[in-house]
Amino acid sequence: MHYLKFRYFIKFMPLTICSIVTALFSQVINIKEVNQLPDDPRALYLDLMKKCLANTIYEDSSCHPGIPSNYDQKNREYGLDWPSTAHTMIGMKRLDNLQYCVESILNENIPGDLIETGVWRGGATILMRAILKAYNNTERRVWVADSFGGLPPVNTVKYPADAGWNLNKYSQLNVSLTQVKNNFFKYGLLDNQVVFLKGLFSRTLPKAPITTIAVLRLDGDLYESTMDALINLYPKLSEGGYIIIDDYFAVPPSAQAVTDYRNTNNITDPIINIDDSGVFWRKSL
Ligand SMILES: C[S@@+](CC[C@H](N)C(=O)[O-])C[C@H]1O[C@@H](n2cnc3c(N)ncnc32)[C@H](O)[C@@H]1O
Repeated sequence: MHYLKFRYFIKFMPLTICSIVTALFSQVINIKEVNQLPDDPRALYLDLMKKCLANTIYEDSSCHPGIPSNYDQKNREYGLDWPSTAHTMIGMKRLDNLQYCVESILNENIPGDLIETGVWRGGATILMRAILKAYNNTERRVWVADSFGGLPPVNTVKYPADAGWNLNKYSQLNVSLTQVKNNFFKYGLLDNQVVFLKGLFSRTLPKAPITTIAVLRLDGDLYESTMDALINLYPKLSEGGYIIIDDYFAVPPSAQAVTDYRNTNNITDPIINIDDSGVFWRKSL
């Protein structure tokens, strides 16, 4: 349509149609604003990987017992739901943080492997392996530690802080080793740089043949699970390495374990918030 005719048409268009057109235009502008992709292929691969792992693409429903089941973008951004099919529940913010930590240790040559204790469907560890792949790193390993059968029943005699946190009753949290291996396989990332530690942390972590860790990610929810990981793995974390606590604000027993461990070991490195749930700190150099 000729420009002048278009202006004339707009001028006399009823107000309601005008607002529909305005709304459509502003939607287009919004979509353009959020679609800012990185330029280089490595960053593009990792960006798409995170979107696949959190499934912000196909938007699956939630199976969290405490929130509505419909897909909610904010929940997936902040890792607040339990996705019914996505490979991680930690959300985009904490995936971004994990990428930041792994890329930092690679760029700064901080020695050690990568590990997550509490992997569920494996998504965070799949991202770890993807980053090593993207950086062509063939030396570091990704350790994948889980019971592969859900959380243990709480032991309130030994760990009173865990009282009431009976997460073992949720079958949604039971994911088998076969399922997790399959998930790695689907991304083409199941190889000998990935090592699985099957069993309760109290049994597997003390004898795990890991010498040095560069990124230590704790996501076992309970005081017991967090403390077992801290006692057995934190001493192996390199100076300049990162520790991430997924549940610090979401599950108070986990934060209690962190506070107790830090106090006992005089750790004063500042704790940095990631989102409303997770925190991390860097072991001082
Ligand atoms: C919240 S989910 C982990 C979510 C995962 N990081 C992700 O990316 O979606 C907690 C996991 O920790 C595991 N877990 C908790 N305590 C454990 C323990 N003491 N020993 C072994 N596995 C444990 C559970 O089996 C479950 O898979």
